[in-house]
Parts: sequence; C-alpha cells; structure tokens
Amino acid sequence: LGNGLARTPQLGFNDWNAYGCNVSESLIKSTAQAMHTNGMQAAGYQYVNIDDCWLTHNRDGNGNLVPDPAKFPDGIAGTASYVHSLGLKLGIYEDAGTATCAGYPGSLGHERQDAALFASWGVDYLKYDNCNNTGVSAKTRYTAMRDALAASGRQILFSLCNWGQENVWTWGAGVGNSWRTTGDINASFGSMLSIFHANVGLNGYAGPGGWNDPDMLEIGNGMSATEDRAEFSLWAEMAAPLIAGTNIARASATTLGILSNRAVVAVDQDSLGRQGRMVTSSSGHDVLAKPLANGDVSVVLFNETGSTATISTTTGAVGKTGASRYALTDLWTGATSSTTGAISASVPAHGTVMLRVANQ
Ligand code: GLA
Repeated sequence: LGNGLARTPQLGFNDWNAYGCNVSESLIKSTAQAMHTNGMQAAGYQYVNIDDCWLTHNRDGNGNLVPDPAKFPDGIAGTASYVHSLGLKLGIYEDAGTATCAGYPGSLGHERQDAALFASWGVDYLKYDNCNNTGVSAKTRYTAMRDALAASGRQILFSLCNWGQENVWTWGAGVGNSWRTTGDINASFGSMLSIFHANVGLNGYAGPGGWNDPDMLEIGNGMSATEDRAEFSLWAEMAAPLIAGTNIARASATTLGILSNRAVVAVDQDSLGRQGRMVTSSSGHDVLAKPLANGDVSVVLFNETGSTATISTTTGAVGKTGASRYALTDLWTGATSSTTGAISASVPAHGTVMLRVANQ
C-alpha cells in the first residue's frame, strides 16, 4: 500500500500467540518496557501490538468502541502514550465483520468511525481480522477500512488478516501493508512447515509497502531452539513481518538471541525488498535464495527431515555470478569461508544453515 509505511517488513510484538485472550494494559506496557531494555528495540523492533479481546461487548451511546476498563484502565490512548514515550509504536486489532473472532464488536459498517477513533488514540498499526464477515467480499471489506484509515489523518500500518481468502496476494498490495497468506500458526514444527510451504511460492507478490504474512512468530513458545532458528531464518528469507509472539519479559537468552540476531534481521529488512525464492526442493532438503540490495545473496539451506543431511547448491544456482571467488558468512555462527562456487553444509534435522554470499 502506498501509504509510506512498511517499506521494509514490520518488526514487532503481538500478544496472541502467548496469551490468547488475556491481553491487558499492564502486559502491553511491561512488554514494551522489556523490548526497550533487552536489545529488541535496538535491533529494530518497533510495534507493540494488542490482539483480540481488548474491547467491551457493546459500543457506547455514540456508537464508539469501548476498551475494557478492567483490562485497560488508562484506555488505549493512555497505553499508546506510554508506548510512544519509549520510542515504540502501538498496534491494535479489529475485525472486518460484525464481531471479532472472540466475539467482540467488529468494524464492518463502522469503518470511518472506528478508524477515526483509533487515530484519536494514537494508534499506529491495525491488524484487521476476518471473522463473522457475513459473506461480503474480502476485497470490499478491507478496501473500506483502507479508505477509512487514509481519511483518519494518521499514518496507520494496515495488516490484513484474511487468511489467504480470495487469493489476497493478488490484490493485497493495493489495500494493505501486509496480508496473511494462511490460517493460524501454532507452536509446532509441522504447523510452521506447512505455512512455510504455502507462503514461499508467493514471492512474486511481495515488495516494499506490501508483504506476504505467514503469521506471527512462535519462537520461544515450545519448538526446539533449532526449530526456532529455522522459523526465524525462513521468515527473514521470505521478507515476512517479524512479529514476536512469546512472553518477552521472561524470554530466555536463547529466545532473545534468536529474535535479536541482527544479521538475520538485516536480511528481512533489506531495502531491495525481495522475498526469497525456492531454488531447489527435494526429499525435504530445500535451498532458498534472496537477492540483497548490495549485490549479496542470502541463502537458506533448510532440512525439513528428521535426520541430519548435507544440503548443497552453487553460487550460480542462487543467482550470484561474476566473481572468481565468493565469501560465505554463516549468519548464526559468524563463521566465514571462501568458495569458487560450491555451497554445501551439514544441516541438523528440522534446522537451517543461513549464509550470506558476497563477492570476494
Ligand atoms: C484469528 C487470527 C489470529 C488472532 C485471533 C484472535 O484467528 O488469525 O491471528 O488474531 O483471530 O481471535
């Protein structure tokens, strides 16, 4: 969407994956504070996002949405001003239907009023869900909110959450800054793997201002550290929004180390804005390549299988040509090596090796 936002994929946090309906002002504030001090903000994380269940069940006498006063004693405006005081931005959740997925009032038919209210509160980001949509076309419903946000007078990143319905990738770039391509993720390797497969081939539709969204990160929520690193590597290679979904204040050093790996974040955030493509995929051994603005190529070797494997490719196959030698940097270990063309590594079960390939 040409609203000047998400020229690179958005980086942030959302409470849903770790807390479900248990969102609150204190959770959002303590998470923002943790991101401010634990290195995540410095690594580029910007948005602190509220998901479903922040509302009361009824609009007020003027038809305005009402934040649950027990969960948000200072309202969304008070929460936003705290988050802004840390130099971070606040996101909120609504639904392009009569009710949200958890049954709170939806925005269908109230787009102008709700967008204006969000703007008045200082909201910077809207995740817009798709439950209870009464069968009206998604493109119509999401376009109505796009126009309402534009009329609100505030820059609000627009994250479409219609689970790939109506091939959203074919029209999403004109409507939103990102669009969910699949159903919901959960904290298992199988879920992550199936979403990866659904999202990876959509690389042609992504670019600055509009990204394929394979759903939020499950890092820290129950997969192994190897699987968590794989999710982060694959999502970065696919230029996906990187929205952390774990308990940030209590995250382990391993989890924070994954989320804050700046070399991997830099691949996601590369200004060329290309989503990586699948170069080869055979028997659960995948090679992905993402061209970068300075001419380097990011390569992910992904082993989907349950046993260690050697995965191989070449500089030519990943689109890196024109030099007689290339430097390889492992973005997880920092190890460097040199090659005339062969790229090969032993990759653990369910794991990735991620390499940045440069001219030498
Ligand atoms: C849908 C969305 C999720 C989450 C829930 C909230 O399932 O896809 O990401 O927002 O609704 O109810």
